[in-house]
Amino acid sequence: MEEQIKKLKEDFYSDFKEKITVTKLEELRIKYLGKKSLLSQLFSQLPNLDKEKKAIFGRKLNALKLEFTTFIEQKSKEIVTEEEKIDLTFPSFYPKRGTKHILSLVSQNICRIFQDLGFVIVEGKEIEDERHNFTALNIPLEHPSRDAFDTFYLDIKPTRDGGNFLLRSHTSPSQIRVMETIKPPLAVISPGRVYRPDKVDASHSFMFFQIEGFVVDRNINFSHLKGVLLYFAKKFFSEDVALRFRPHFFPFTEPSAEVDISCFLCKNQKFSNQKCGVCKGKGWLEILGCGMIHPKVLENCKIDSKKFRGFAFGMGVDRIAMLKFGIGDIRLFYENDLKFLEQF
Ligand code: PHE
Repeated sequence: MEEQIKKLKEDFYSDFKEKITVTKLEELRIKYLGKKSLLSQLFSQLPNLDKEKKAIFGRKLNALKLEFTTFIEQKSKEIVTEEEKIDLTFPSFYPKRGTKHILSLVSQNICRIFQDLGFVIVEGKEIEDERHNFTALNIPLEHPSRDAFDTFYLDIKPTRDGGNFLLRSHTSPSQIRVMETIKPPLAVISPGRVYRPDKVDASHSFMFFQIEGFVVDRNINFSHLKGVLLYFAKKFFSEDVALRFRPHFFPFTEPSAEVDISCFLCKNQKFSNQKCGVCKGKGWLEILGCGMIHPKVLENCKIDSKKFRGFAFGMGVDRIAMLKFGIGDIRLFYENDLKFLEQF
């Protein structure tokens, strides 16, 4: 038995002299530790030995078994790390791609519809001055309508001709920025962030997105405005949508209107018994404000209001996205919850 143990040990280590692969290692494990291995056979001979020898060889065989097992385990760890390093068949790292934010998607989709009509995109400034945000838009400092555009003023030294700096409360100052630098004809779409110190709730946020659009040319009239907005509504919501213009007031447009679309979910079936979840049974959804650019606004930008006329409109991207996708809370757009964002 002594001899056999010695031989077994020698064989074991000489078998491990060559390069070992994962399969080879498994073969050797079976050869030396498996049920039919020499070691098992030696173990099965133990009962035939006398008491003293049984104890001695029992201990030796157990020690050998432990030695083989630890050696094989150690080898297996080495091989795995080594093979991992060079295994070219391993799946490669696949980066998870992000997606555009729903508000970017909606804003881009809206802009694209107007671009198809020949409008060009111009980005305005988020930090504006009183002149561009109010005065040039025919909203004088003491005008009560300024209350509707509650504003964040910035603690920066005011400019001589522009007055105080502020975070723009609407995208309409883009009209001024363009009209004071580029001569008509103009067809411009201007998307971006706007800020109002509103208390945050399901439908208000202190920062949200608007898209301004305007056209200035000779002989522009209200029916051009209606036609362009109807084209937009059909493309963005659905072909069978209807528009409703309600008279309204904005200091920078005259006449002014608020525009509703017929509910694209219930198709304006306001008399049906079930209340529609989108329009709450009203049949109409307000989507934007618009009007013919006030002659004073044109004059403020040194455009001759006897020769040129224009129309303008402004819409809230958040509101339109909420309507289109049935989202009930504006805060969802700004919480960065992937479970929400990944749906778009
Ligand atoms: N600036 C207006 C608002 O924020 C929207 C508007 C834009 C209305 C252009 C008429 C013309 O409510």
